[in-house]
Amino acid sequence: MSKRIRVGLAGTGFAGKFHIENYGEGVEVVGVTSARAESREAFAAEHGLKAYETVEAMLDDIDVLDICTPPSSHFEYMMTAVRAGKHIVVEKPLTGFFGDPAVTGKEAMLKAVREQVQELREAVEKAGIVFGYAENFVYAPSIQKEREIVEKTRAQILRMVGEESHNGSHSPVYGIWSVQGGGSLLCKGCHPLGAILYLKRKEGIARTGRPIRPAAVSARTHTITKLDGFEDKGFLRTSYKDTEDYGFLHVVFEDGTVADVTASELVLGGIYDFVEVFANNHRTRCRISPVNVVDVYNPRHEQLQDVYLVEKISTNEGWIPASPEEGWSLGYGPELRDFVKAIRGGGRPESDLDLAIDITVTLYAAYLSAEMAGAETRIPA
Ligand SMILES: NC(=O)c1ccc[n+]([C@@H]2O[C@H](COP(=O)([O-])OP(=O)(O)OC[C@H]3O[C@@H](n4cnc5c(N)ncnc54)[C@H](O)[C@@H]3O)[C@@H](O)[C@H]2O)c1
Repeated sequence: MSKRIRVGLAGTGFAGKFHIENYGEGVEVVGVTSARAESREAFAAEHGLKAYETVEAMLDDIDVLDICTPPSSHFEYMMTAVRAGKHIVVEKPLTGFFGDPAVTGKEAMLKAVREQVQELREAVEKAGIVFGYAENFVYAPSIQKEREIVEKTRAQILRMVGEESHNGSHSPVYGIWSVQGGGSLLCKGCHPLGAILYLKRKEGIARTGRPIRPAAVSARTHTITKLDGFEDKGFLRTSYKDTEDYGFLHVVFEDGTVADVTASELVLGGIYDFVEVFANNHRTRCRISPVNVVDVYNPRHEQLQDVYLVEKISTNEGWIPASPEEGWSLGYGPELRDFVKAIRGGGRPESDLDLAIDITVTLYAAYLSAEMAGAETRIPA
């Protein structure tokens, strides 16, 4: 491989933008593709890249395919990259079931997803490529500080709570099951669940040399903005075609300890993301957003309309929990640098395929549980 790592980007939306902004030294994003010619050409011109019509057309010129397209295309692009022996960076969620949820039951979805991840795992192992699962929560500085505490003190985590909630998504195709593979539980819950499963793995490795994995899950999903009695005051996004806007899941790990995750679209005031850890020797509240580094009071919205303060705040008026550097506080920069380090050094990234598969299978087992009004559901190995 040439000394500089050549990345090809698929997708020029919100995620494509923060990926290109957060790659560090020694990496060259050489090309970009996306579904629409205008968007890929505009993105290529803005960043000095070559625009390609398809992922396949880009493969000869790259070492890494960075997949920032909607979830329904992730599996196809991961398999295209792995067959060509290219390293993979893929945005969350890893993959899913992209049929009609009114027709297909959750047991069949879980089965289909397990078959996909099995095929992917075998292909990745055979190709010997580096697989970076872009779960930024894993790399948030607060989660990494907690990992250090758990490892150095050999803490036993007894319970965790985590949440990701914000008002919808920047993506116009959010809220459509056949594109996203689910709603709040999958697309937002994957973040805190990812950090929680990661920390429990790290605890197991530190204490016994073996990761502690999720064993069972109970979950509920609701669509509050579709209730007959919901009064729309115009502040919350309500355009969810066939996905839930609220999800809750309770995980039981193989050692009997537990974690609870909430995910929803029903939150004003910017992105609300945290994980709290209750251990046998300490307690840590990991703030991911807001991080409470700087609060800005702005008496008039227009005054700061050109200043970026924090994601999804809707207004710049009043007290704003501004984020000075989201690439750092949300973990995007450390995440991409870890993938590049693994590609250079041949190691495994902190957020790898094993973690991605555990997250995905847990979430589809959670959907199966929700279909049974919260009945405890075993998470298949
Ligand atoms: N880690 C995070 O915090 C975070 C935040 C936002 C989105 N995401 C993830 O990033 C991915 C993209 O989300 P987004 O918000 O940027 O979406 P988006 O809808 O804003 O952008 C998607 C881009 O992909 C292109 N595209 C769509 N289908 C395609 C296909 N089949 N082939 C090639 N290009 C295609 C679109 O033209 C567009 O450029 C999703 O998996 C999402 O879950 C992660």
